[in-house]
Amino acid sequence: MQNVVENKYNAPTEVRDIDIVNTLELEQLAKEIVPHGGYDYISGGSGDEYTLKQNIKSFNHKGILPRVLADVEHPDTATSILGHDIKAPFIMAPIAAHGLAHETKEAGTARGVAEFGTIMSISAYSGAKFEEIEKGLNGSPRWFQLYMSKDDELNKKIVDEAKQDGATAIILTADSTISGNREKDMRNKFVYPFGMPIVSRYLTGSGANMSLNNIYAQSKQKISPRDVKFLADYSGLPIIVKGIQAPEDALLAMGAGASGVWVSNHGGRQLDGAPGSFDTLEAISKAVAGRVPIIFDSGIRRGEHIFKALASGADVVAIGRPALYGLALGGWKGVKNVFDYFHTDLKRVMQLAGTQTVEDIKNTTLVDNK
Ligand code: GLV
Repeated sequence: MQNVVENKYNAPTEVRDIDIVNTLELEQLAKEIVPHGGYDYISGGSGDEYTLKQNIKSFNHKGILPRVLADVEHPDTATSILGHDIKAPFIMAPIAAHGLAHETKEAGTARGVAEFGTIMSISAYSGAKFEEIEKGLNGSPRWFQLYMSKDDELNKKIVDEAKQDGATAIILTADSTISGNREKDMRNKFVYPFGMPIVSRYLTGSGANMSLNNIYAQSKQKISPRDVKFLADYSGLPIIVKGIQAPEDALLAMGAGASGVWVSNHGGRQLDGAPGSFDTLEAISKAVAGRVPIIFDSGIRRGEHIFKALASGADVVAIGRPALYGLALGGWKGVKNVFDYFHTDLKRVMQLAGTQTVEDIKNTTLVDNK
């Protein structure tokens, strides 16, 4: 008889509205219901988790000087990015394996994001197929995030599928040629309980029962500006290079044809000891000088963080772990609640700061906090 590998991972299943006082508290609530290995994988960072913590702390390095007498009756958060009109200056970050948080996997996240009214980023390491995610997206905009194969013919196939699915941009993650030092995953001997259908063609297995370390090792290490050009030429789509922390790399990416720069340290999951993501943003924004849009992530937990990122040069920010905790706690409804929370919180910050539009936020000068 064939040996059947039993999937013992019991992801949460509940679909309900959740109360959110702040998104930091969602992490503790999710910890109570997400299986230990999955929770550690989602919440953890690399090494000492210095960078993970610094991502949130670094927002305190700058302050918002509130202005008054500014007519803030109707704060308007609407904006646009790469041709998409979105309700607010934030989108869903690409995250692997949403099925660790909820049985509905990426389809649950996609529905919450679509019902809110912004862009879903689909990770190459999604545990759901494009057509399953489409059930949640229902035609809503999506970008596709690529971890490249070593084999460009396979990269072409993956890009073809993403285009066919309706992706309007490719996010090339450039900071993950190998895995960060994920000590919690090592301790837990963490392996994904399910496969990764989008990239399984370049893995030695489906992705199930494989570690991130193993999977990253099978992706491309030889990433260079040539890959940006190759993807831009082949796909005809805007390429956004993700994982930029140095102004020089923003210029390299743009020189190779990138249509967007994504400032990120991968949520503190790759190089520990790197600065908080927010601390790198201003210099990158000066180098980019408005020539291409900047997407920012790593550490966004409050409306103040979104405001500060926009005032420092980001055009939109991406929400990562808080959305996944929302998914764990309430399925698609929990995801929508998280996006609604950020919307309400950002409007509050805009009003208290004396700004009424996203343009006003971008024109705000932050002060150095002592
Ligand atoms: C995968 O993208 C991870 O950071 O774990």
